[in-house]
Amino acid sequence: MKNSSRRGFMGKAFGAVAGVGAIASLYAMKKSWDPLPSVKAAGFTTLDMSPYEENQLVTEKWRGKPIFVMKKTAEMLAKQTEEQAARDIKVGDGHYMIAIGLCTHLGCIPAYNADDKGFLCACHGGQFDWSGQVTKVPPPRGFDIPPFKIDGMKLVLGEEGPEYKAMKASGITL
Ligand code: FES
Repeated sequence: MKNSSRRGFMGKAFGAVAGVGAIASLYAMKKSWDPLPSVKAAGFTTLDMSPYEENQLVTEKWRGKPIFVMKKTAEMLAKQTEEQAARDIKVGDGHYMIAIGLCTHLGCIPAYNADDKGFLCACHGGQFDWSGQVTKVPPPRGFDIPPFKIDGMKLVLGEEGPEYKAMKASGITL
């Protein structure tokens, strides 16, 4: 009787130790499956929006893709249509065209002409205006807008802030 209760205690103690061990090894396995912090951080690109100059296209990078950033001029803002304005990303006092810099036809990288204030895709002649809308086919739609979050004068690419969610809901981002 005494022996069996001792065995029972030993069994429970062993079981408890084995249970803790199993949880610890599951935790270790999960940790090894999770992406490293540096990999998680690599999904985001933070841009300081203060240095960009009006009507000058700068190509940044996010997740290996070119990202077009252009600050609009007062003249552009004064004459742009509602559809063009709907694509504006406002950071501080500036209005920006920010888009994935790949033609929505077959993925070439269009070039910006600051004099014409438009983009030309050399592959098949597609054209886009300064806000990223198509002005000449074959591209089926305007430039795609990457997920973004506005944080003061910074823009975090890869995070979905409320402004991006609103654009996405109205179908502007794709
Ligand atoms: S890839 Fe740009 S027009 Fe075809």
